[in-house]
Amino acid sequence: MERKVTLEMLFRHPIVQKYIRRSGMAHAISVSERAFDIAVKTGVNPDLAAKAGFLHDIGHYEWYTDGKWDYQKYRENDIHAIKGAARAHKLLVRLGEDLHHAKQIAVAILLHTDSYLPEGQLKLTPLQKVVARADTEDEEPGGAHHYRKIDPAEALSRIQTLDRKIDRFFQLEKLKKSG
Ligand SMILES: [Fe+2]
Repeated sequence: MERKVTLEMLFRHPIVQKYIRRSGMAHAISVSERAFDIAVKTGVNPDLAAKAGFLHDIGHYEWYTDGKWDYQKYRENDIHAIKGAARAHKLLVRLGEDLHHAKQIAVAILLHTDSYLPEGQLKLTPLQKVVARADTEDEEPGGAHHYRKIDPAEALSRIQTLDRKIDRFFQLEKLKKSG
């Protein structure tokens, strides 16, 4: 499969730097790596899983009152999954992502949390489950995962490593099919 958009292209984009730094670059990369691993194990497209994992919190807004993080305000008013889905979709389409893929990634972001949705049971697709699970696995008590730090050079190198792993996955798939 030819990948039109790489994680590195996303990582280097100013929109991604602006919004993902806000919600935590270390968390975004870690969720992306976890989503890749779970996707490979469960037969889900790892490119879509890694991208949705990386971008899942791109819709966060900063809820501050008098310079302090206001958790109550956040719980009551947050729609980061909705905003993130729309923001990620716009970005992916602009960068030339396959439209079917852009939609799948956006919907996985929309459903990565159910904290803003009415009560009920959703029947998630395998991709949506991978992203929600990767996020949950990386969460720390009190939202500490949003504040974990990462050195920019390490961030870039982990993103590049993940891109190479995704490319290798598709090369192997191709070999399996032709052999
Ligand atoms: Fe998250």
